[in-house]
Amino acid sequence: MRLDVFTQIPHAFGWLTEQRPLATVLGGELELRLVNYRDTTPLRAGQVDDSPYGGGAGMVLRVDVVAAALEALYGDDPPARVVALTPQGRQLDQALVEELAAEPAVTLLSSRFEGFDERIVEHLCTDAISVGPYVLSGGELPAMLVIDAIARRLPGALSEGSGESESFSADLDGGIEYPHFTRPAEFRGWAVPDVLLSGDHGRIDTWRHDQSRARTARLALLS
Ligand SMILES: C[S@@+](CC[C@H](N)C(=O)[O-])C[C@H]1O[C@@H](n2cnc3c(N)ncnc32)[C@H](O)[C@@H]1O
Repeated sequence: MRLDVFTQIPHAFGWLTEQRPLATVLGGELELRLVNYRDTTPLRAGQVDDSPYGGGAGMVLRVDVVAAALEALYGDDPPARVVALTPQGRQLDQALVEELAAEPAVTLLSSRFEGFDERIVEHLCTDAISVGPYVLSGGELPAMLVIDAIARRLPGALSEGSGESESFSADLDGGIEYPHFTRPAEFRGWAVPDVLLSGDHGRIDTWRHDQSRARTARLALLS
């Protein structure tokens, strides 16, 4: 699939592209393009934002700047999913990640300061997505969350099977994964559950299943 990210800080994504699983799928299953609004802005001196009509604090990303950036890359044929990253959007969850990962192309628009001119969200985007009910300073971290979550779901990103029964997956009916332990078997008196050392895979599977259900129920009670 192709992911295009529009941002004022393309270099912020450097470390992410060097890490697995993203690095594994880049250039193969995933094409990632980072686009700087400033490169195509119709305004002078790389300006991309402006003060809000009606007054108030902060600067707002301009609709003509975003329209110019989209047109420069896509002409009059934008991808089917153009996403505004905003705390006011649909909250990202695993179901939405799976939905996006199944698309041939997704565009992510990030903003900074006070956010988008509302006409960008209304007329240039198909979706608005939030990474959680809190406010960050810019859309770059949210874009990285979305990119990473999508990249994990692409063929070949993870070693065989490791992404199939993770927390929130369909395999676990959207529930929580069982707990993991590794050596040492005891540390400061904290012992690994006996069943995991038993070598009895039937009992281990049952224990993991029960743990997964109990954790899922506990989380449901908390939320
Ligand atoms: C400081 S925020 C703007 C917040 C906006 N004034 C509001 O109250 O909803 C600046 C930009 O960061 C990004 N951003 C911040 N929090 C986000 C979140 N929870 N999910 C997705 N994007 C977010 C968005 O691109 C947003 O336009």
